[in-house]
Amino acid sequence: MVRAMSDDSGARLERLSGMLKRRGFILPAFEIHGGAKGLYDFGPNGGRLRNRVNQMWLNHWISMGNVSEISCPTITPYEVLEASGHVGEFSDFMTGCLSCEEVSRADTLLEDYHPNPDSLGKLELQELLNKSSPPCPFCGEKSWSDISAQNLMFNTKIGAGTSGRDGFLRPETAQGMFTSFPVLYRHFRERLPFGAIQIGKGYRNEISPRQGMIRLREFNMAELEYFIDPEASISHDFSSWSGVKLTMIGENEGEVLTSIVDAIKVGMVRHETVGFFIARTYEFLIGVGIDPSRVRFRQHESNEMAHYATDCWDAEIHGSYGWVECVGIAHRGCYDLEAHEKYTGKSLRARREFATPKEVVIDGWTTDSAVAGPAFRSLAGKVKLVVEELPSDTSFPLELSIEDQLVTIEQTHVKRVQRTDTLTGEWFIPHVIEPAFGIDRIIWHILDHAYDEIEKQGEKYTIMKLNPNVVPIDYVVLPLYEKDGMGEIAREINTMLNSRFGVVSSFDASGSIGRRYARADEIGVPVCITVDHQSVEDETVTIRTRDTGQQVRLKISEL
Ligand code: GLY
Repeated sequence: MVRAMSDDSGARLERLSGMLKRRGFILPAFEIHGGAKGLYDFGPNGGRLRNRVNQMWLNHWISMGNVSEISCPTITPYEVLEASGHVGEFSDFMTGCLSCEEVSRADTLLEDYHPNPDSLGKLELQELLNKSSPPCPFCGEKSWSDISAQNLMFNTKIGAGTSGRDGFLRPETAQGMFTSFPVLYRHFRERLPFGAIQIGKGYRNEISPRQGMIRLREFNMAELEYFIDPEASISHDFSSWSGVKLTMIGENEGEVLTSIVDAIKVGMVRHETVGFFIARTYEFLIGVGIDPSRVRFRQHESNEMAHYATDCWDAEIHGSYGWVECVGIAHRGCYDLEAHEKYTGKSLRARREFATPKEVVIDGWTTDSAVAGPAFRSLAGKVKLVVEELPSDTSFPLELSIEDQLVTIEQTHVKRVQRTDTLTGEWFIPHVIEPAFGIDRIIWHILDHAYDEIEKQGEKYTIMKLNPNVVPIDYVVLPLYEKDGMGEIAREINTMLNSRFGVVSSFDASGSIGRRYARADEIGVPVCITVDHQSVEDETVTIRTRDTGQQVRLKISEL
């Protein structure tokens, strides 16, 4: 939940945002054309930092051993997102100011009048809006239009002219991973559990984007879809988190400080894999520099969850905008694979073998493909699936609606199936547990938590105490002066670091040495290497550490 801030934190936020823009971390996009709400650039420092966060995220999940990275298009055909439920369900409630005509998200407007307006339905929101009359954030007036639902997807045409096909910019990377299930299943030798990960852009036509990087219309997502057999026994290794206490807010339990194992044991976390991913998410967030004391996990209320989820925990991070949801760990059940299977008639199933074979009496129906094929054409696959689910006492002709088309199944289209089979296993729809990360929001909080202001000689001095894992620049090499051979030595060191050690080093010879240290501290460079007169004589340099200001001398050969 995003909250208003005090004047003090507002001023700090202004200085932080100004610095991030000036130093090329993050900045509003297309500013020379007046900008566009909800669109941001990562500049030369931010681009590198984002890349490192992304790489750490990929490594974090690939290290599980049964997770592979894939990449799917961001442009998605209409049918995919109709099957997934996004066409019908993926909307926010909005209302318009009757005075200035700016539109706002109803739940955001009502944050000061309800503990969790996101959990309210349309009628409840309307009632609360009527009762509380919040001021318009743009003009301050208090009269509002009726609340309506607004689909959040950007629509587009795939192809030109009359052959153009309806499509959307994807609202999540997940759907590409569900539709890729058959290739993933083959890749993992038809053995669950396994996961697919993907980092890429997602798009949501937010009603009123605000608060910088927190609510964007185009954003960086990183999602893992982890496919499991819901009946298989699970055993995750929690040993590395036995001493770690997490702040968790359960739907029924309220806020508790608990180990993840205890939260699973008491049933607060309902599925062990969800718990495992909560712990791994915490580990990732700390690894990229999020302050552990400002992370909590909050379970969604049952009426707050996305249309596909049966349980969901958010990782919320506290920063300049209050507590903000940055990761959602959702149990999506079999919702997505089942939806795509029903829509396409293509099997998205996995097989489980029985411990001992089972005898089953089959008494039902199937289609006679020689007759049903020509009769139902493109619907034949779906008709077959439906017919095979019919009870043995079904009488024909039978009228059914398949894909909004009325079909009549005649006796001649079907064949009775009666036999006893010995089954060694069965096909089932896997369940999916999904940790979904909002990379921009995480990056915002990395920067927010790292931003430190100290007093130095009566002035505010900024140090970005970024975790060395994600800094945009690892080393800055500074010649005290460029003359007397110092410039050449500094350039050689800079080239050596960049070309041989897989690190990023930069060379800075502009301005006084104090100004250059200040510039390096402001973007979080952990170590400065200074070349001075002594370096020319004895091939040593000064190593200055960002967080302590400590300086030691080292031989260049020992760097
Ligand atoms: N895939 C999770 C989300 O769209 O938020």
